[in-house]
Amino acid sequence: MKKVVLDNYDDVCRAVADIYSRQLREKPHSVLGLATGGTPIGLYEELVRRYNAGEIDFSMARSFNLDEYYPISKSHPQSYDYFMRENLFDKINIARYSIPNGEADDPVAECERYDGEIAAAGGIDLMLLGIGLNGHIGFNEPSDTYPIGTYLVDLTESSLTANSRFFGPGEHQPGRALTMGIGAILSSRSIVLMICGANKAPIAKRLFEGKVYTGVPASFLLLHPDATIFLDKAAAGA
Ligand code: F6R
Repeated sequence: MKKVVLDNYDDVCRAVADIYSRQLREKPHSVLGLATGGTPIGLYEELVRRYNAGEIDFSMARSFNLDEYYPISKSHPQSYDYFMRENLFDKINIARYSIPNGEADDPVAECERYDGEIAAAGGIDLMLLGIGLNGHIGFNEPSDTYPIGTYLVDLTESSLTANSRFFGPGEHQPGRALTMGIGAILSSRSIVLMICGANKAPIAKRLFEGKVYTGVPASFLLLHPDATIFLDKAAAGA
């Protein structure tokens, strides 16, 4: 695990965009893992800027997103499917993208199908993660045990409250999600975690306490041979 502290959010976005640029230059057929939420928005803006400038090409790449609310329609503005099209996929030339299907009738079958699709693609080359205020990655919430594969999870109060900012007053917020399991995340060949903003300083501090435990799901990343954790100074408490 490598820890990198940069001055501010824009610097973190540029540094992570450099990693995506290099990955696609070296392996145009890369399988990319992608996240939603507030954190990657600046990164996606930077990737779109580079794409428009002819500096990066996604035409042979494919991607898998970490998670999706369940149930939710793909046309719902708060679905992660909608978020990804709005912020990235409709603005670049990615060959193919996959997101757990929040519209599936049978969530268990959908999870198995999603794992099968990731396996058939050869696993994930470069996985992008954000971190929840409770230490979650994807929607792997603090818990005693974790399914290895994709699963249907009940979101914790912390995650529901943190994400309620994206929903309008009175708008229904799904209490469950389909999330990639710890297995697909940790078997990614390379992982980048972005931790930005002063509100993430307390969880960043707990993450770097030097122990691995399910109370901070992101701490499993400390065991990964090629995980880089980028922080801005505000999150690093510097
Ligand atoms: C998003 C995801 C979540 C977020 C995390 C941080 O696909 O899996 O783990 O990365 O909740 O969210 P933000 O960036 O909004 O603070």
